Amino acid sequence: MRGVTTSGSADLVILANRLPVDRVRSADGTLGWRRSPGGLVSALEPIMRNNDGAWIGWPGVPDEDVEPFVDEGLSLVPVPMSAQEVEEFYEGFSNGTLWPLYHDVVAKPEFHREWWDSYVAVNERFAEKAAEIAAEGATVWVQDYQMQLVPRMLRERRPDLRIGFYLHIPFPPTELFQQLPWRRQILEGLLGADIVGFQLNGAAQNFVRLVRQRVGHKTHRDTVYLPDGRTVQARAFPISIDTRGFEELARSESVTQRAAQIREALGNPKTVLLGIDRLDYTKGIYPRLRAYSELVAEGRFSVDDAVFVQVATPSRERVEQYRVLRDDIDRLVGRINGDLGRIGQPAISYMHSSFPRHEMAALYRAADIMVVTPYRDGMNLVAKEYVACRYDNDGALVLSEFAGAAEELRQAWRVNPYDINGMKAAILEAAHADDREVTRRMKAMRKTIMEHDVAGWAAAFLGALSEVQGTHSKTLRP
Ligand code: G6P
Repeated sequence: MRGVTTSGSADLVILANRLPVDRVRSADGTLGWRRSPGGLVSALEPIMRNNDGAWIGWPGVPDEDVEPFVDEGLSLVPVPMSAQEVEEFYEGFSNGTLWPLYHDVVAKPEFHREWWDSYVAVNERFAEKAAEIAAEGATVWVQDYQMQLVPRMLRERRPDLRIGFYLHIPFPPTELFQQLPWRRQILEGLLGADIVGFQLNGAAQNFVRLVRQRVGHKTHRDTVYLPDGRTVQARAFPISIDTRGFEELARSESVTQRAAQIREALGNPKTVLLGIDRLDYTKGIYPRLRAYSELVAEGRFSVDDAVFVQVATPSRERVEQYRVLRDDIDRLVGRINGDLGRIGQPAISYMHSSFPRHEMAALYRAADIMVVTPYRDGMNLVAKEYVACRYDNDGALVLSEFAGAAEELRQAWRVNPYDINGMKAAILEAAHADDREVTRRMKAMRKTIMEHDVAGWAAAFLGALSEVQGTHSKTLRP
């Protein structure tokens, strides 16, 4: 249904592919909800409570048509997806086309017309829902690459709204974006927002350049001028984490104990190296493990007094490229441990599972060197979480220059994940750095993320959005 819909009651609507809870079935067969550990929801919770906020998203399983409900004081509005849409919209266009295309084509994007059709249909459904529940003059904040058509679809239905869009992943250079058969529709979809936010300035510039070249709108710096007189701003708002929350957790007695237990279980080695990632081909897990295994093979590290702990969180497991990656990593870890490990002393301690925040904090505290080596990453919050947990000013961070976080965490040991020798050298340097050097670097990085946490990120974006002149838009209560 097109045209202006009668309005609902939410003054702030967050719209994302996923709800901040997952549908789970317990052992006795009953269905329930489990809070997903995202930082986004904790950052937005206070402002949502103060503004009759609602969160629109998919419950994470096909064919779940659930009525809106309240979970721990948050209004959640589920949008259903059929099994075919999960395949075509979520696994297909979102994660088989856009995800690799936006991450430097690290894997080959696939272009299928039926995937695109499904993307349009699902975006319509989300836009429709937002149009239905948003109050007159409300603010709607659309999240991430799965929802790029929503801003325009929503503006067509509800011109009274303030609409923001935030892209959590990189926005590609024009040369790569042009491959997309539906490039113009995506750009026009995003231009429905008043503000389009990105992690980095470079991404905002890529977007503005594309809008000028492909859509033909006038632009000046970060502003796009539309023929109807409206303007759209494209700006960087680098995301962050709940820095104090992580630090508090890391300081707790139970995390302290658990960190000691982890080191003990690893045989109290001199050096613990750590990688924690979603099992995704953008994360550079393969070259990282190869670099480390070569160092062990060359005698630079010994399994007697060093171990690499790699946690890979299961992700998008039905997408072909993710299955292939899982097999590749399984094989690599098996080969490395087979060649280099001894009884009770593997070179790599590998876990394919997801851990709660508490266990992650303990791992961060147990690790001497955190190794984060994505080929391309919008931000990489794991790097920031490690720094947040190191209130002891100890611990070295090895960080890819292709992660958004590298723009802020300048005191990390920087690496190019395509350069195995360079990575080996940086890991060795970090391992041999004296305590004063490690502390100096960690202190500086901690200052950065203390001054810039996820609450500050949300306030900056919503603050900028509230300055947009709407015809009848309301102002949010902070
Ligand atoms: C990235 C994306 C998010 C996404 C998350 C998990 O961080 O930016 O939008 O929710 O990965 O991926 P999934 O496909 O499980 O939602």
